[in-house]
Amino acid sequence: MKNRESDDPGSRRKKPEITLREMEIDDIAHVFHLGEKLFKAQEVPNLYRTWDDFEVIQLYQSDPELCFVAEEEETGKLVGFVLGTTVTKSHSAWKYGLMVWLGIDPAYRRYAIATKLFHQLTDVMLQEGVRMLLVDTEADNLEALHFFRKLGFGSPQEHLYLTLNLAAKLKQLKEKANGKTRPNDR
Ligand SMILES: CC(C)(COP(=O)(O)OP(=O)(O)OC[C@H]1O[C@@H](n2cnc3c(N)ncnc32)[C@H](O)[C@@H]1OP(=O)(O)O)[C@@H](O)C(=O)NCCC(=O)NCCS
Repeated sequence: MKNRESDDPGSRRKKPEITLREMEIDDIAHVFHLGEKLFKAQEVPNLYRTWDDFEVIQLYQSDPELCFVAEEEETGKLVGFVLGTTVTKSHSAWKYGLMVWLGIDPAYRRYAIATKLFHQLTDVMLQEGVRMLLVDTEADNLEALHFFRKLGFGSPQEHLYLTLNLAAKLKQLKEKANGKTRPNDR
């Protein structure tokens, strides 16, 4: 059984009335600052993207119809957001929907706000012909994993990411360009 008194910070407040709406240009700074609180605390929240103001602006510019915010009616405070995009692969007729960033203010969690944002986003993606929805998160982000499972996401794929440091090669290239290369350098 769920223990709302001890499980989550939101349990100490009365259930907030929430409105969802499309993100607007004036929301960019609020979304960015809320995301900073949520994602900067995690070392690598999303492996191939970084949370910064440019990221928010870029997603808002490219897919404004896939960016939504949740606002508390009483205070007008922005308490959550979802930013999505779509991709098509060259040899596939399928259109994929990416839920890139999803975040809820810690004081407003477990009130189904993320669930509502998710449904809002998928409604629009369905209208745009999306057939498969993708999300990624760190393996130890249990709250997100519980959340995604509850929404029906399955078959988590394990990916191994390998890194190769190119700094030495880069240095060599620069030296070569500056005419400092020794004859045996490759
Ligand atoms: C994951 C997150 C978006 C969930 O937001 P939320 O508004 O609290 O989620 P909901 O209230 O809609 O939760 C729906 C269901 O997900 C599951 N869930 C959500 N948070 C959970 C938690 N901390 N522990 C266990 N299950 C959880 C529950 O099954 C919940 O249903 P219930 O409350 O009826 O039990 C929020 O915790 C968050 O912002 N986390 C930090 C950012 C992040 O990791 N984003 C995802 C990757 S970009």
